[in-house]
Amino acid sequence: MDDLKGKYLGQIADAGDENALEAIRVAAVGKKGEVALKMRELGKMTPEERQVAGPALNALKDEINSALSAKKAALADAALDERLRTEWLDVTLPTRARRQGAIHPVSQATEELTAIFAELGFSVAEGPWIEDDWYNFDALNIPGHHPARAEMDTFYMHRAEGDNRPPHVLRTHTSPVQIRSMEKQGAPIRIICPGGVYRADYDQTHTPMFHQVEGLAIDKDISMANLKWVLEEFVKAFFEVDDVELRFRASHFPFTEPSAEVDIRCSWDNGQLKIGEGDDWMEILGSGMVHPKVIAAGGIDPEVYQGFAFGIGIDRLAMLKYGIPDLRAFFDSDLRWLRHYGFAALDMPNLHGGLSR
Ligand code: DAH
Repeated sequence: MDDLKGKYLGQIADAGDENALEAIRVAAVGKKGEVALKMRELGKMTPEERQVAGPALNALKDEINSALSAKKAALADAALDERLRTEWLDVTLPTRARRQGAIHPVSQATEELTAIFAELGFSVAEGPWIEDDWYNFDALNIPGHHPARAEMDTFYMHRAEGDNRPPHVLRTHTSPVQIRSMEKQGAPIRIICPGGVYRADYDQTHTPMFHQVEGLAIDKDISMANLKWVLEEFVKAFFEVDDVELRFRASHFPFTEPSAEVDIRCSWDNGQLKIGEGDDWMEILGSGMVHPKVIAAGGIDPEVYQGFAFGIGIDRLAMLKYGIPDLRAFFDSDLRWLRHYGFAALDMPNLHGGLSR
C-alpha cells in the first residue's frame, strides 16, 4: 500500500495538465484502477486482516482523491496566471496619430444651442420626423386650403391602398413638436426641439433635408419682451459676441399672432461675414406669440396661458458661425470636408468652457 501511495502521489505531483491528471485518476482510483483491484482482494482475507486493510485502503483512496483535486486547482491557478501574463495591454501606448472622423458642424451647433437654452431653463423635446398632417398643419392653424401648405413644398407619403386617412408627411418644420409637447406636458412649459425637417427644395442655401430648432415657452405672464430677451441672450452666446443688434420685423405665420422675423446686424467684407457690426441684416429666425388656436390645439386653455415660440434654421446658424459657404456640402458625406469643418469628438460645448474652442 505504501508503494501505491508513493507511486501515485509522485505522479500527481509531476502531472503537467488536466489530461495527465485524469489518466492518473483512472489508473489509481477508477473502477478498474489499482486501488479497486486491491479492494477486491479484501474478500480473500481473514476478518482480522480485513479490519486493518479495509480502512487503510479507503484512506488511501481518499488521500489520492484529495491530492488529485488539490493538483487540479493548482493547475487552474497556474493557467490563469499564465493567461494574465500573456494577455496584457500597454495603455500608455500612443493612440492613432490621425483622427478618422469628426463631429459634424450641425451636431456641433445643435450641442451648442442646447447648452445655451439649457442654461436659460429650456429642456429638450423631440417628435417624429414622419408626421401626421394634423400635427404638421391643422393643429398649427394651417387648414387644408391655406397657401402655407403649398409654400412649404411638402413631401407627402401615400397610405396603403384602401386606407383613407389623410397622408403622412415628412415634417416640414419642427413646429408640430409644440403641439405634441403641450399635449404631453401641459402648461407651464419651456422646451426646445431640435431635429431634421424636409422640403422639396434644392440650391446653395436649400437642401431637401435640413435642421431646425423650435422653441416654446408657455406660462401665465409671458410677453413679447421675454421673447426678445431670450433671443438676444441666445444669439450673443451662440455667436460668442458681447453685443448684437437684432431687428424684429413684423411678419406673418399662421401659428403666431403677432409674428416677427428676426434679423441680425452683420457685414460682408470680401465675402467674409461678420456678426454684430456693419450695415447689413441677415434673417435668422421666425417667431411670435403663440396663436390662441394653437395653444387650444395643444390642450391648454388660451384664456389662462399665453407664450412665445420661435423656429431657427440650425444649418443656417452653423454656416454663419463657421463660415461655411454651401449648404449642400453638409450632406455630401465627404470626409475631406468633415476633416476641414468638423470638430473633435468628446469636446462637448458648454458655456463655462467656451462653446467652440
Ligand atoms: N415653422 C416656421 C418655418 O419653418 C418657423 C417658425 C416661425 C417657427 C415662427 C415658430 C414661429 O415657432 O413662432 O418656417
